[in-house]
Amino acid sequence: MSADDFIVTPWHVEGDIDYDKLIKKFGTEKISEEILDRIKRITGEDHFMLRRGIFFSHREMNRILDDYEKGKKFFLYTGRGPSGHTHIGHLVPWVFAKWLQEKFQVNMYFQLTDDEKFYSKQNLTLEDTAKFAYENALDFIALGFKPNNTKIIINTKNIQTLYPIAAQVAKKINFSNTKAVFGFTNETNIGMIFYTSLQSAPCFIEDRPVLIPLGVDQDPHFRLTRDIAPKIGKPKPALIHNIMIPGLGGPGGKMSASDENGTVYTTDSPNVVKKKINKYAFSGGQPDIEQHRKIGGNPDIDVSYQYLRIFFESDDNKLKSIYDDYRSGKMLTGEIKAILIEKINKFLTVHQEKREKAKEKIEQFLFENK
Ligand code: TRP
Repeated sequence: MSADDFIVTPWHVEGDIDYDKLIKKFGTEKISEEILDRIKRITGEDHFMLRRGIFFSHREMNRILDDYEKGKKFFLYTGRGPSGHTHIGHLVPWVFAKWLQEKFQVNMYFQLTDDEKFYSKQNLTLEDTAKFAYENALDFIALGFKPNNTKIIINTKNIQTLYPIAAQVAKKINFSNTKAVFGFTNETNIGMIFYTSLQSAPCFIEDRPVLIPLGVDQDPHFRLTRDIAPKIGKPKPALIHNIMIPGLGGPGGKMSASDENGTVYTTDSPNVVKKKINKYAFSGGQPDIEQHRKIGGNPDIDVSYQYLRIFFESDDNKLKSIYDDYRSGKMLTGEIKAILIEKINKFLTVHQEKREKAKEKIEQFLFENK
């Protein structure tokens, strides 16, 4: 591991991430009070993911807001590498993107990189990743996006549209650039080496600036995109980054779709959710009730608490009383887990219904090559 004791790249996240250090390392900017106030003023809403620092960092959010206030609109873009079923951590940037879309009334593109996950995962065929792309698309649509202003791009299906843009990008990135950013070696397959140009392509799919809400692990791709954008006569993509969502096993590393028990999938039944949280959710509690009552729990490392903070409890007062009660030992681990289980299952019941309905709507969302 690096001297910092954490690693964040698009294909590997490990260790206990120090986000202030990461901001320095990546050269991004922390979301300031001033930007928070600006977003609040423009949208008329104080989004809990901003307020709580779930979205904590950005690149050129100011320019996007300046332009917007002058009447110049942007568009939104985010994506997902379909390596498995969607888990609840994936929903964070998508739900936030949905909110941005509503508030700013802009178009949205969602890229499913079936090629990328084929290149990066030894055990997945292109058929597997295409299948997961379809499954992931259902989750995205289920969040309430509308087909008139939202399009889903599937790399192997939309290559005809992406390729001419990717070619412009690829010509400006050389091997030593990608090597420096991603640590590629001579053994890395050449699909991976070309791949950043495909993830960059949707940034330039419309003739206006783009804003990308994304997990911070994806920043390195767009650092390259931003470097080359002026060279191809395009605006640099602006970014707004969310923290990595911990897996059930605890802080240090993101939720991984390939670790069955370390993850709550959007397709899990209420019983499975209950079992997974009770059995696998890392606890900040004490080994026995007596000690817990005496010393209290640590919500800062407790995964159940973190999920409530990040996604499932948007009410600050309720969250604070859970925090205080758990900290003081008044609330037991089994109790905080029960709160989370109920929240997740309530959310998933509705989500799974919408996900079923999405099967009839998916065609309307798929980007058509022109
Ligand atoms: N590479 C991303 C992943 O593995 C998928 C992706 C494609 C993406 N385009 C994006 C993520 C834009 C964020 C923003 O999940």
